[in-house]
Amino acid sequence: MLENLDKIQAVALADLETIDDQGALESWRVANLGRSSPLMSIFDQLGGLPKEERPIIGRRANQVKGTLENKLEEKTEQLNAIQLQRTLETERLDVTLPGRKVVYGRLHPVTQTLRQMYQIFAEMGFQVYLSRDVETDEYNFQLLNFPPHHPAREMQDSFYIEGEYEQDNPLLLRTHTSPGQIHAMREYSSSNPQDPPPIRIILPGMCYRYEQISARYESQFTQVEGLAVGKNITFSDLKGTLSDFNKRIFGKNVRSRFRASHFPFTEPSAEVDIECFVCGGLGCPVCKRTGWLEILGCGMVHPTVLENGGYDPGIYTGFAFGIGPERITMLRHRIEDIRYFWANDFRFLDQF
Ligand code: PHE
Repeated sequence: MLENLDKIQAVALADLETIDDQGALESWRVANLGRSSPLMSIFDQLGGLPKEERPIIGRRANQVKGTLENKLEEKTEQLNAIQLQRTLETERLDVTLPGRKVVYGRLHPVTQTLRQMYQIFAEMGFQVYLSRDVETDEYNFQLLNFPPHHPAREMQDSFYIEGEYEQDNPLLLRTHTSPGQIHAMREYSSSNPQDPPPIRIILPGMCYRYEQISARYESQFTQVEGLAVGKNITFSDLKGTLSDFNKRIFGKNVRSRFRASHFPFTEPSAEVDIECFVCGGLGCPVCKRTGWLEILGCGMVHPTVLENGGYDPGIYTGFAFGIGPERITMLRHRIEDIRYFWANDFRFLDQF
């Protein structure tokens, strides 16, 4: 049995030499020091040995066990050291490499235009008034003096909200920011119905039209509505405000032109053009050879609309306008297709 123990130790130590990874080492431990290893079975047999042999064999078995355990520990440390070395080699850092540039995000070009517009109007004393995106037919059309069969009220032109259809007053996504005029006037006038306060606000927001999408039309776009109501407001105030706005946003030499037009909620109404800043009014592809670029709609608030807002049209007058920030952005940067604004294409967005 002593010889057997010598052999067990010799074989185990020889095997251990060949091991070079943690998994194999664990198998070695199980085979040589585990419950069913040859060494353990010798411990199990000790009880059946003659009395005088028992301590001799027992001592030797304990020696072998101690030796194997020591060697196992040594080997474990050795393998750990090798592992650490490998990690250090593969995960080495080159501290002399140059750093990587931080990539900065930027504001969407339309947001940039919007912020500039807020700035310009703020300097003229206009406050921002936020109105809702989901409107009733009443606010979007009726209170703005649209006649009942106006083409803009057709299902083909507006997004109505299904399931919320009330015979005479369905819900829809606002087709313009003008319904905000009524909300604002009613809020202001309700604070003092006998003598309502003057108003000077802009109403920015998203508008929705059930439109065939093309290079010029999107089904979703922003508008900035303007509204001024007071006791002595004239068309000259409107002209001055918008001419000044045009100069500030397009350049101080830009000329503006007011062309008679029609909107149900303003009277008189006008569309405003600026002199083409690409060709200076001589005619080019950008202005389609007319020398002028159309940029907004405006007019004096219709008496019926003032009244619907709680302002006595015998005492108060006002002006309103609606500007398309997408259109302004397209003109300033010569962007030829409105669909770029929603395409989320970095090659486009990175240019602003
Ligand atoms: N709401 C009009 C439109 O969407 C623009 C407009 C606003 C015209 C205010 C006059 C006054 O086309």
